[in-house]
Amino acid sequence: MNDYQSALHPAGPYADRLGSLWEIFLFTTGAVWVVVLLFLLYAIWRGRRRAEADVSESSQRADTRYVSIAVALSTVILFGLLAASVATGRVVAPHGDGATREIRVNGHQWWWEFQYLHPRPDQIVVTANELHLPAGEKIKLILKSSDVIHSFWIPNLNGKHDLIPGKTSNFVIQADRPGIYRAQCAEFCGMQHAKMAFIVVVEPKEKFEQWYRQQLLPAPIPKTADEQRGQQVFLGSTCVMCHAIKGTPAGARTGPDLTHVGSRLTLGAASIPNTRGHRAGWIANAQSIKPGVLMPPSNLSPDDLNALMVYLESLK
Ligand code: CUA
Repeated sequence: MNDYQSALHPAGPYADRLGSLWEIFLFTTGAVWVVVLLFLLYAIWRGRRRAEADVSESSQRADTRYVSIAVALSTVILFGLLAASVATGRVVAPHGDGATREIRVNGHQWWWEFQYLHPRPDQIVVTANELHLPAGEKIKLILKSSDVIHSFWIPNLNGKHDLIPGKTSNFVIQADRPGIYRAQCAEFCGMQHAKMAFIVVVEPKEKFEQWYRQQLLPAPIPKTADEQRGQQVFLGSTCVMCHAIKGTPAGARTGPDLTHVGSRLTLGAASIPNTRGHRAGWIANAQSIKPGVLMPPSNLSPDDLNALMVYLESLK
């Protein structure tokens, strides 16, 4: 799991380039540091052997020469690093040429909304806090924010990119190595900035397509008595003020779309695992898990809460 959220374990070409740039900087500046320290030690050693400073003209000429060489070397090294930086910047530049699909990313305090765009409206998938990607495909992202500035960051896939209210901007990511990665909002955006994370699931193309087809479907129809009661609880409570479940009258867009919430790995923007116990705690009082979150506490009876839990779990 050491590559779960790490810029040093790249899983795609952009992160790879950034990782190389990091190595170039590390080794170059590391070498400079060692050389400077060696000269310092030499100066201390030489200074101790002489009681008085050497102020002769020849010594001053030599000093001038050494300083000039050092300045010239520093300039060359700094320009070298600048060139490496610019070259990397060009590779990871957010132009979407050759992208196989476009995903609109909307930042909210404090969760992520992902909309997989498609020319046919009935083929658009909307999900929250979990980004599924096909391995080996270049993906164009269209980023915006609905409140404050956030920053989109999947360390294993690319650098950071800001989401700015009232402005859309483009970004690209590509994952070549299937796996599950954690991503994090990287710009302080309020009280729960730290709990504004999401999960990136990278799968081979066929598995991704399977997931996509599943996500296009409306929510499954409740089968058991508990599931049916759970749906009634959902539709009869304040849940519907903020959440949508495709295939039911619930269509609000303030909070995450819950059509397939049962299939997700986490809740509360990767704050907690999506298990029954955690889910119960979240619905009963999300404030105790994520203080300041817009989701209010609920006062459902234990039976209603349990039915709701069973229903949400069935939304695969
Ligand atoms: Cu959103 Cu920090």
